[in-house]
Amino acid sequence: MAGGAIATTRLLQAQRASAVENNNSTVNLKPAPALAPIMGTGQPETPVLAYNGIVSGPVLRLHQDVLFRADVQNGLDEDTTVHWHGIRLPNAMDGVPDLTQKSIAPGASFQYAYSPPDAGTFWYHPHDHTARQMGRGMAGALIVEEPEPAGFDRDVLWVLQDWELLPDNEIVDGFDDVMQGMMAGRIGTTVTINGTLPTPVPLRAGERIRLRLINACLARFMALRFAGHKVVVMALDGQPVTRPFEPDGGLTVIAPAQRVDLLLEATGNPGSTYAVTDEFYGYDGSYKLTDLAYSVAPKLITSSKPITLPPNPVPAPDLKNPVRHHLTIVGGGMSGMGMGGMMGGMGMMGDSNTPVAIWGIKGSNGLNEGMTPIFTLPLGRTALITLTNTTDWWHPMHLHGYSFHVLSRNGVVAKYPHIRDTVILRPKDTVDIAFVADNPGNWMFHCHVIEHSDFGLMTVIRVA
Ligand code: C2O
Ligand code: CU
Ligand code: CU
Repeated sequence: MAGGAIATTRLLQAQRASAVENNNSTVNLKPAPALAPIMGTGQPETPVLAYNGIVSGPVLRLHQDVLFRADVQNGLDEDTTVHWHGIRLPNAMDGVPDLTQKSIAPGASFQYAYSPPDAGTFWYHPHDHTARQMGRGMAGALIVEEPEPAGFDRDVLWVLQDWELLPDNEIVDGFDDVMQGMMAGRIGTTVTINGTLPTPVPLRAGERIRLRLINACLARFMALRFAGHKVVVMALDGQPVTRPFEPDGGLTVIAPAQRVDLLLEATGNPGSTYAVTDEFYGYDGSYKLTDLAYSVAPKLITSSKPITLPPNPVPAPDLKNPVRHHLTIVGGGMSGMGMGGMMGGMGMMGDSNTPVAIWGIKGSNGLNEGMTPIFTLPLGRTALITLTNTTDWWHPMHLHGYSFHVLSRNGVVAKYPHIRDTVILRPKDTVDIAFVADNPGNWMFHCHVIEHSDFGLMTVIRVA
């Protein structure tokens, strides 16, 4: 009956509309002090700073191109903002105090509103007092759903954080330590997944899992090995790769702020267990992150259709006609040396009234200075930026407001073309990145080892 069919269609449309509303209507986020069971149940809880009382923060699931609003009410006793890491949004929504907005004072509120143009794995975190607030727990996943499900059997999210805890599980104070800041930053000793000490991750034989990894640590890099399993990189920093690939040597490297979406095929046998280890810091620094624990359920019969993620509408750079710039990272402590090498190429040290700058970014007009743009890109042009790391340290360099193509590393063209918002510069690396400067505003460009950024490894790129 025609009338019945129309009624059904209307009902379905209404249901769909309300599903979208539920996902993308206003979300309330309240950062405030809280207690969190970092070390698991039965252990003393840890005083943290948290969004809506939980660590990691609430998982926000958004729809591509649908307006999203977040009402942020500051329940902390200090200023804060929210930064939507990796989202190509209007400058005024970017959450950088004194650059894109006034910081949100204690008790005050701010409403963010934007439509995310890209589907994928993103995250949010504060951008004021970032080391302390993020280091005490404030970070959450922001997932922008594809319009159609991509064909995985299950979606699994790991928000990775690390903590430096005292025996009573309180967080060690001091997020502004110069010694840590001039070296690798604060690398906590306890690594958690989704806010608690990892417990075995249940798996069913045969299933195809989308494992979304978010590194929300202040400074810890990771290189994950999934024993007995082959993993395939599907997306980096939310952006699908054009050709999915197995990571080199079976190690999934993920720097602070980066995300990796993996296809994890549960090829193990029912009842078996496999370790996931983090081997970034070599033999001595390796540890078991968690176990993959197969249930005894028989193998799931699932589709064998290849899984692909639809590309996002990130514009292709025009490499025939780019605006070129060169930025050089300088400073830091010298590895294996004392204070003598601390100034590297910088030759500047604050007096007692100004913060110590132990890192810097050098453009053609000299060193970065606070929030003063280091250069201006003409709106709409392709920017090709060469980044050189003269220091002895690793830096995950992040550009706000954009996703950029990583063209080459040390002159070698990227084997697997990829788009990122945070790119690793190893000691002495030179990396070429390119993007179409189509998003006007003042955009931060900084190292995501937060202490590096706090001690000077940050600048602003203006697009106008
Ligand atoms: Cu997640 Cu300014 O960064
Ligand atoms: Cu960002
Ligand atoms: Cu750095």
